Amino acid sequence: MIIAIDGPAGSGKSTVACILAARLKFRYIETGSMYRAVAWKAQQQGIRPEDRDKVAAVAQTIAIEFRPGVDHQQVWVEGQEITAQLKTEIIGSLAASAAAIPEVRKVLTEKQRAMGREGNVVMDGRDIGTVVFPNAEKKFFLVADPVERARRRYDEMKAAQPDLDLEQVVRQVKQRDYEDENRAVSPLKPAEDSILLDTTQLKIEEVVERMMRAIQPVSNV
Ligand code: C5P
Repeated sequence: MIIAIDGPAGSGKSTVACILAARLKFRYIETGSMYRAVAWKAQQQGIRPEDRDKVAAVAQTIAIEFRPGVDHQQVWVEGQEITAQLKTEIIGSLAASAAAIPEVRKVLTEKQRAMGREGNVVMDGRDIGTVVFPNAEKKFFLVADPVERARRRYDEMKAAQPDLDLEQVVRQVKQRDYEDENRAVSPLKPAEDSILLDTTQLKIEEVVERMMRAIQPVSNV
Protein backbone atom coordinates (compact mmCIF):
# COMPACT_ATOMS: atom_id res chain seq x y z
CA MET A 1 0.00 0.00 0.00
CA ILE A 2 1.22 3.49 -0.87
CA ILE A 3 0.16 6.61 0.97
CA ALA A 4 1.06 9.81 -0.88
CA ILE A 5 1.31 13.11 1.00
CA ASP A 6 1.94 16.27 -0.97
CA GLY A 7 1.88 19.96 -0.17
CA PRO A 8 3.93 23.14 -0.01
CA ALA A 9 6.90 23.85 2.28
CA GLY A 10 5.92 24.01 5.94
CA SER A 11 2.48 22.44 5.51
CA GLY A 12 3.42 19.74 8.04
CA LYS A 13 3.95 16.87 5.58
CA SER A 14 7.12 15.38 6.98
CA THR A 15 6.03 15.59 10.62
CA VAL A 16 2.72 13.84 10.06
CA ALA A 17 4.12 11.43 7.46
CA CYS A 18 6.73 10.22 9.93
CA ILE A 19 4.15 9.67 12.72
CA LEU A 20 1.72 8.02 10.32
CA ALA A 21 4.39 5.64 9.02
CA ALA A 22 5.33 4.65 12.59
CA ARG A 23 1.65 3.99 13.46
CA LEU A 24 1.08 1.89 10.35
CA LYS A 25 4.52 0.22 10.56
CA PHE A 26 5.18 1.43 7.01
CA ARG A 27 8.44 2.80 5.63
CA TYR A 28 8.68 6.56 5.45
CA ILE A 29 10.29 8.18 2.42
CA GLU A 30 10.80 11.94 2.44
CA THR A 31 11.41 12.75 -1.22
CA GLY A 32 12.33 16.40 -0.49
CA SER A 33 15.50 15.01 1.13
CA MET A 34 16.41 13.37 -2.17
CA TYR A 35 16.22 16.68 -4.08
CA ARG A 36 18.12 18.30 -1.20
CA ALA A 37 20.79 15.55 -1.30
CA VAL A 38 21.36 16.15 -5.03
CA ALA A 39 21.65 19.91 -4.38
CA TRP A 40 24.03 19.28 -1.47
CA LYS A 41 26.31 17.01 -3.48
CA ALA A 42 26.34 19.41 -6.44
CA GLN A 43 27.28 22.23 -4.07
CA GLN A 44 30.07 20.09 -2.55
CA GLN A 45 31.45 19.59 -6.04
CA GLY A 46 31.33 23.31 -6.79
CA ILE A 47 28.67 22.86 -9.48
CA ARG A 48 26.59 25.98 -10.13
CA PRO A 49 22.77 25.53 -10.11
CA GLU A 50 22.57 26.79 -13.71
CA ASP A 51 24.90 23.99 -14.91
CA ARG A 52 21.87 21.81 -15.46
CA ASP A 53 23.69 18.92 -17.17
CA LYS A 54 26.16 18.64 -14.32
CA VAL A 55 23.41 18.75 -11.70
CA ALA A 56 21.56 16.04 -13.68
CA ALA A 57 24.75 13.93 -13.75
CA VAL A 58 24.89 14.18 -9.94
CA ALA A 59 21.29 12.90 -9.72
CA GLN A 60 22.17 9.98 -12.00
CA THR A 61 25.10 8.78 -9.93
CA ILE A 62 24.23 9.70 -6.33
CA ALA A 63 23.52 6.86 -3.88
CA ILE A 64 20.94 8.07 -1.34
CA GLU A 65 19.93 5.90 1.58
CA PHE A 66 17.41 6.42 4.39
CA ARG A 67 18.31 4.84 7.75
CA PRO A 68 16.28 4.82 10.95
CA GLY A 69 17.66 7.24 13.58
CA VAL A 70 16.83 7.70 17.27
CA ASP A 71 14.19 10.42 16.87
CA HIS A 72 14.26 11.04 13.13
CA GLN A 73 15.17 9.34 9.90
CA GLN A 74 18.76 9.77 8.74
CA VAL A 75 19.83 10.56 5.19
CA TRP A 76 23.12 9.02 4.04
CA VAL A 77 24.97 9.79 0.85
CA GLU A 78 27.87 7.55 -0.08
CA GLY A 79 28.83 6.58 3.46
CA GLN A 80 28.25 10.00 5.04
CA GLU A 81 25.32 11.03 7.21
CA ILE A 82 24.16 14.45 5.96
CA THR A 83 20.70 14.80 7.59
CA ALA A 84 21.40 18.08 9.44
CA GLN A 85 23.27 19.61 6.52
CA LEU A 86 20.21 19.24 4.30
CA LYS A 87 17.96 21.36 6.53
CA THR A 88 19.30 24.81 5.65
CA GLU A 89 17.34 27.34 3.58
CA ILE A 90 20.20 27.55 1.07
CA ILE A 91 20.01 23.82 0.35
CA GLY A 92 16.19 24.10 0.18
CA SER A 93 16.47 26.79 -2.44
CA LEU A 94 19.15 24.90 -4.41
CA ALA A 95 16.91 21.81 -4.20
CA ALA A 96 14.04 23.77 -5.77
CA SER A 97 16.36 24.76 -8.66
CA ALA A 98 17.50 21.15 -9.11
CA ALA A 99 13.87 20.02 -8.97
CA ALA A 100 13.02 22.14 -12.00
CA ILE A 101 15.48 20.13 -14.18
CA PRO A 102 13.49 17.42 -16.06
CA GLU A 103 16.36 14.90 -16.03
CA VAL A 104 16.78 15.26 -12.25
CA ARG A 105 13.06 14.63 -11.74
CA LYS A 106 13.13 11.62 -14.07
CA VAL A 107 15.97 9.95 -12.20
CA LEU A 108 14.62 10.66 -8.71
CA THR A 109 11.10 9.61 -9.73
CA GLU A 110 12.51 6.24 -10.85
CA LYS A 111 14.36 5.82 -7.55
CA GLN A 112 11.17 6.70 -5.63
CA ARG A 113 9.10 4.18 -7.61
CA ALA A 114 11.70 1.49 -6.91
CA MET A 115 11.53 2.28 -3.18
CA GLY A 116 7.71 2.16 -3.31
CA ARG A 117 7.78 -1.26 -4.96
CA GLU A 118 9.61 -2.66 -1.92
CA GLY A 119 6.38 -2.57 0.10
CA ASN A 120 4.14 -0.46 2.29
CA VAL A 121 5.28 3.15 2.28
CA VAL A 122 4.26 6.62 3.29
CA MET A 123 5.92 8.98 0.80
CA ASP A 124 5.82 12.75 0.97
CA GLY A 125 6.79 15.44 -1.52
CA ARG A 126 5.27 17.68 -4.17
CA ASP A 127 4.29 15.26 -6.96
CA ILE A 128 3.80 11.87 -5.29
CA GLY A 129 0.03 11.64 -5.88
CA THR A 130 0.17 13.25 -9.33
CA VAL A 131 3.30 11.78 -10.97
CA VAL A 132 5.29 9.29 -8.88
CA PHE A 133 2.36 7.14 -7.72
CA PRO A 134 -0.83 8.29 -9.48
CA ASN A 135 -2.43 5.00 -8.38
CA ALA A 136 -1.53 5.36 -4.69
CA GLU A 137 -4.25 3.88 -2.48
CA LYS A 138 -4.55 7.08 -0.43
CA LYS A 139 -3.52 10.60 -1.30
CA PHE A 140 -3.44 13.63 0.94
CA PHE A 141 -2.70 17.23 0.05
CA LEU A 142 -1.79 19.42 3.01
CA VAL A 143 -2.09 23.19 2.91
CA ALA A 144 -1.69 25.96 5.49
CA ASP A 145 -1.61 29.72 5.55
CA PRO A 146 1.83 30.92 4.28
CA VAL A 147 2.50 33.04 7.40
CA GLU A 148 1.76 30.06 9.66
CA ARG A 149 4.04 27.87 7.50
CA ALA A 150 6.80 30.47 7.75
CA ARG A 151 6.33 30.66 11.53
CA ARG A 152 6.82 26.86 11.77
CA ARG A 153 10.03 27.06 9.72
CA TYR A 154 11.18 30.04 11.80
CA ASP A 155 10.64 28.12 15.06
CA GLU A 156 12.67 25.19 13.67
CA MET A 157 15.58 27.29 12.46
CA LYS A 158 15.74 30.01 15.14
CA ALA A 159 18.05 28.13 17.53
CA ALA A 160 20.68 27.57 14.85
CA GLN A 161 20.26 31.06 13.32
CA PRO A 162 19.57 33.63 16.09
CA ASP A 163 19.59 36.57 13.61
CA LEU A 164 16.75 35.07 11.62
CA ASP A 165 13.91 37.42 10.78
CA LEU A 166 10.33 36.11 10.48
CA GLU A 167 9.55 38.48 7.60
CA GLN A 168 12.53 37.04 5.69
CA VAL A 169 11.23 33.49 6.23
CA VAL A 170 7.75 34.55 5.01
CA ARG A 171 9.36 35.87 1.82
CA GLN A 172 11.38 32.64 1.37
CA VAL A 173 8.28 30.46 1.83
CA LYS A 174 6.30 32.49 -0.71
CA GLN A 175 9.21 32.39 -3.16
CA ARG A 176 9.46 28.58 -2.84
CA ASP A 177 5.68 28.25 -3.34
CA TYR A 178 6.00 30.29 -6.52
CA GLU A 179 8.87 28.14 -7.86
CA ASP A 180 7.19 24.84 -6.96
CA GLU A 181 3.78 25.81 -8.38
CA ASN A 182 5.05 27.36 -11.60
CA ARG A 183 7.77 25.02 -12.86
CA ALA A 184 7.11 23.36 -16.20
CA VAL A 185 7.69 19.77 -15.00
CA SER A 186 5.59 18.21 -12.24
CA PRO A 187 4.45 21.47 -10.62
CA LEU A 188 3.00 21.35 -7.13
CA LYS A 189 -0.75 20.76 -7.36
CA PRO A 190 -3.25 18.49 -5.65
CA ALA A 191 -4.16 15.22 -7.36
CA GLU A 192 -7.85 15.24 -8.26
CA ASP A 193 -8.51 12.31 -5.95
CA SER A 194 -6.52 13.65 -2.98
CA ILE A 195 -7.96 14.52 0.40
CA LEU A 196 -7.31 18.17 1.13
CA LEU A 197 -6.37 19.04 4.72
CA ASP A 198 -5.81 22.61 5.89
CA THR A 199 -3.42 22.32 8.85
CA THR A 200 -3.33 26.04 9.77
CA GLN A 201 -5.46 25.61 12.89
CA LEU A 202 -4.85 21.92 13.52
CA LYS A 203 -2.51 20.25 15.99
CA ILE A 204 -0.21 17.56 14.56
CA GLU A 205 -2.17 14.84 16.37
CA GLU A 206 -5.46 16.05 14.87
CA VAL A 207 -4.02 15.89 11.35
CA VAL A 208 -2.72 12.35 11.98
CA GLU A 209 -6.10 11.26 13.41
CA ARG A 210 -7.96 12.56 10.35
CA MET A 211 -5.56 10.72 8.07
CA MET A 212 -5.86 7.49 10.07
CA ARG A 213 -9.66 7.70 9.80
CA ALA A 214 -9.37 8.09 6.02
CA ILE A 215 -6.90 5.21 5.72
CA GLN A 216 -8.53 2.65 7.98
CA PRO A 217 -11.35 1.55 5.67
CA VAL A 218 -8.73 0.83 2.98
CA SER A 219 -6.03 -0.86 5.04
CA ASN A 220 -7.97 -2.53 7.87
CA VAL A 221 -5.26 -1.38 10.32
O1 C5P B 1 10.07 19.26 1.07
P1 C5P B 1 11.37 20.00 0.97
O2 C5P B 1 11.28 21.45 1.39
O3 C5P B 1 12.48 19.30 1.67
O4 C5P B 1 11.74 19.97 -0.60
C1 C5P B 1 12.77 20.76 -1.13
C2 C5P B 1 12.44 21.12 -2.57
O5 C5P B 1 12.53 19.93 -3.35
C3 C5P B 1 11.03 21.65 -2.80
O6 C5P B 1 10.92 23.06 -2.67
C4 C5P B 1 10.73 21.22 -4.20
O7 C5P B 1 11.18 22.18 -5.14
C5 C5P B 1 11.55 19.96 -4.39
N1 C5P B 1 10.73 18.75 -4.36
C6 C5P B 1 10.08 18.39 -5.51
N2 C5P B 1 9.38 17.22 -5.57
C7 C5P B 1 9.29 16.42 -4.50
C8 C5P B 1 9.93 16.79 -3.29
C9 C5P B 1 10.63 17.98 -3.25
O8 C5P B 1 10.12 19.12 -6.50
N3 C5P B 1 8.63 15.27 -4.59
